[in-house]
Amino acid sequence: PSDFRLRGRGAAKVLVLGAGVAGLAAAYELGKAGYDCTILEAQDRVGGRNRTLRGGDRLAEMGGATQRVRFSDGQYMNAGPARIAQWMTTMDYCRELGVPLEVFTNSNAEALIYNESAGMKAPVKWRTAKADVFGYISELLAKATDQGALDQRLTATDKERLLSFLSGFGAIGSKTSGYAYTGTDRRGYTVDPGAGHQAGTPLGPPPSLSEVLASGVGRSFSFEFGYSQAMLMFQPVGGMDAIPRALARAVGHGKIKTGAKVTKITNLASGVRVEYVAGGRTKVAEADYVIATLPPNILAKIPHNLGAGVQAALSTPVPAATGKIGLEYRSRWWELEDNIYGGITNTDLDLATIWYPSYGYNDRRGLLIGYYNFGAAADTYAAMTHEQRLTRALNQGAKIHGDKYRKDIAASVSIAWKRQEHIEGGWISWPSRGAEYKLLNEAQGNVYYCGDWLSYEIAWQHGSFESARKVVSELHQRVLKS
Ligand code: PHE
Repeated sequence: PSDFRLRGRGAAKVLVLGAGVAGLAAAYELGKAGYDCTILEAQDRVGGRNRTLRGGDRLAEMGGATQRVRFSDGQYMNAGPARIAQWMTTMDYCRELGVPLEVFTNSNAEALIYNESAGMKAPVKWRTAKADVFGYISELLAKATDQGALDQRLTATDKERLLSFLSGFGAIGSKTSGYAYTGTDRRGYTVDPGAGHQAGTPLGPPPSLSEVLASGVGRSFSFEFGYSQAMLMFQPVGGMDAIPRALARAVGHGKIKTGAKVTKITNLASGVRVEYVAGGRTKVAEADYVIATLPPNILAKIPHNLGAGVQAALSTPVPAATGKIGLEYRSRWWELEDNIYGGITNTDLDLATIWYPSYGYNDRRGLLIGYYNFGAAADTYAAMTHEQRLTRALNQGAKIHGDKYRKDIAASVSIAWKRQEHIEGGWISWPSRGAEYKLLNEAQGNVYYCGDWLSYEIAWQHGSFESARKVVSELHQRVLKS
């Protein structure tokens, strides 16, 4: 839990560029400490990449058509951030701002894994893949242990304890059976256990060790071991944009100028002058300090007088491609037919992942994320029209869920983050966190840079919040000293 607060009152004028999570958080914290903050935001909405799409919204794309979102009431798609780890500062802001949370299911034993290029004939449930991989790994390790292959590493007691662990972990046979893994009901059932004489029909024997290794299903497991991706994870009830909405309310809507595109940043002997275009007119704003939270690739296009070093640093990070498609279905067949209530299917197809909704269980309608992909796969979809993306996503998804995947779609919308004006990327990556990263993490005259791109948690709201806190702390110390 966090107890962040700027101590002492500050009395300076601060212009914040960008009303994404970093900009809103910076203005929010400075406002609490008595600063006079104004936010300039190029778009007609706050939130930046934190965007929740609902029926009635319009989604414009650079060099592409504008999509009208036709999702029905109550259905929404988090086009940007969609999951929060429990340790993240984002959780503290949700508490402070009164944003209600619910569990976001990041891993689900009932969801699927499918590696087409490994020759898998059909997808398997995560539970089945885990039973088989853990089972065979346990068998191999138990055999090696028992045959003395690990005697250099293990004492006799270690061996006993390891064998006892493997027996439970892999559900393998006893020493007399050679510790064989032959499959258990952990793999799942074709007919579920019931009452009386209905013991259930287990899925049957596992594929061979060779087949399991060849399928590559085990490659998916480590994802949920990651510090930022482990269950439990959370999401705001009703959509991730509850966070920027609450921040904007706390900052005060009167302090946020939307439709204001920054065109020039001039650092002065005392203060900063910012030119921006709003309503077709060029305007000027002056302040003691500027906090620039736009993506570096966007800042690199805005003239400034901070020097060639700053310009080179802003041009160093590489924007990353990512995209999503939201598919609203007239029935929640993934729950009705496949017992999948939330979670993620992992594939080696260019759709990469399918996300089942972690809200609205057992409702009539529901909304899937039909792809959430990265890099080259995201570029492939970005180059298409929405209709082409939809067709491709459905054809690929049908490899996993069959023909029903193409039916009963009520509405769809797709986003390609590199084609979002004023943002032009999902997030950025630093070739290395070298001199450029260090430079932009320090004030340049009266200009501070801020955003997830200046943190160790890029592509997470946590990084934006942490960067905002760091920058406002530094600015505040400077103001208190002056
Ligand atoms: N935070 C984003 C997500 O959860 C992007 C990301 C993916 C970041 C994987 C790190 C690892 O999808």
